[in-house]
Amino acid sequence: MIVGVPKEIKSDEYRVAMLPVGAEELSQAGHSVLIEAGAGQGSGISDAQYQTAGATIVAEAAEIWARAELVVKVKEPQPAEWPLLRLEQVLFTYFHFAADEPLNRALIDSGITAIAYETLRDQRGSLPLLTPMSEVAGRMSIQEGAKYLERPQEGRGILLSGVPGVAPAEVAILGGGVVGSNAAKVAAGLGANVRILDINLDRLRYLDDIMPPNVTTLYSDRHTILESIVRADLVIGAILITGARAPRLVRREDLARMKNGSVIVDVAIDQGGCVATSRPTTHRQPTYLVDGVVHYCVTNMPGAVGRTSTYALCNVTLPYVLQLAKHGWRNVANADPGVAEGVNIDRGRVTNQAVAVTFGLPFHPLDGRATAVAMPAGRA
Ligand SMILES: NC(=O)c1ccc[n+]([C@@H]2O[C@H](COP(=O)([O-])OP(=O)(O)OC[C@H]3O[C@@H](n4cnc5c(N)ncnc54)[C@H](O)[C@@H]3O)[C@@H](O)[C@H]2O)c1
Repeated sequence: MIVGVPKEIKSDEYRVAMLPVGAEELSQAGHSVLIEAGAGQGSGISDAQYQTAGATIVAEAAEIWARAELVVKVKEPQPAEWPLLRLEQVLFTYFHFAADEPLNRALIDSGITAIAYETLRDQRGSLPLLTPMSEVAGRMSIQEGAKYLERPQEGRGILLSGVPGVAPAEVAILGGGVVGSNAAKVAAGLGANVRILDINLDRLRYLDDIMPPNVTTLYSDRHTILESIVRADLVIGAILITGARAPRLVRREDLARMKNGSVIVDVAIDQGGCVATSRPTTHRQPTYLVDGVVHYCVTNMPGAVGRTSTYALCNVTLPYVLQLAKHGWRNVANADPGVAEGVNIDRGRVTNQAVAVTFGLPFHPLDGRATAVAMPAGRA
């Protein structure tokens, strides 16, 4: 099979979807690997390293899209890439369809098969290809939050750890999954007072067991959310309902009750954000103010620490790339229901229920008949 890896073109995206060791393993298994010139540059990997591993360096992205049967990427295809998608091509990458209707439409029209990293499950039912990036984003959310709490960045002028005689910052984390627990670990390590809110009591029990004493777990409901964000200096949005748009747990009117100069890092922005006033930002212009509250809503946070993130991502994607190249996606999906869950769109049909529900489109299970789904309340 011909496997192609284009250079990422999203703003300030420094990751690449394959390491030289991946190119080597694929080549040794008899596949052809095409890498766009400079694709690894942002992660400190040279074209020569890929060539030594058996890959062919291709000058233009268009050639990769024209030749590759399986394209492996990091971020969702950007509008400039949409016309390059080919019928029957397989694209394996992050999509986050629920946050982006035009992307959804473009991919339906393209006739490709879209296998999304963020909905593929392993045998334990977890999301193995989302986990490493959530670990990065969770840890980074506190680093970024700490920076934007500084006064020159329009924050309250708070040091997360406090100092002897001065209280540390209050951190509220909405969602205690991978992002939330990694954020809590870093924030607690710095000495902040941390609250984690979740609706999964088993998860809260687990976090209560493993977290240090400056982390409090709380059941997430309207009252605990409001009370926690009002006292917080830093709020981390870390909710996920797999494949679906994130629920807006912080409402527009809540901001007026929050502290002036407090910071929201809405990590869940790639699924639409869990704060009503969140809108996607880039690493170039990561923040904006609403009612005196700093909003940080970068959709590709791990991209900024490209080298760490590339290694963390490729460690988990390569085994799947090898399987897809060896057996073809349909055989892999037939044998592994977790991979089938990763298939969001197949040649114009939406095969992920949450995506279908989000956009009110017919849901086509991979092996079954189309089902009409109800449009969620509030969507036109
Ligand atoms: N911006 C970025 O660069 C970036 C990077 C990585 C991940 N993410 C996003 O971060 C989000 C979180 O990812 P994750 O891997 O931690 O997911 P996860 O599934 O591990 O955790 C999500 C948690 O949210 C909880 N939850 C659901 N509804 C809730 C509610 N109403 N109140 C409180 N908790 C609730 C779930 O019980 C779960 O524990 C996702 O949207 C993911 O796509 C963004």
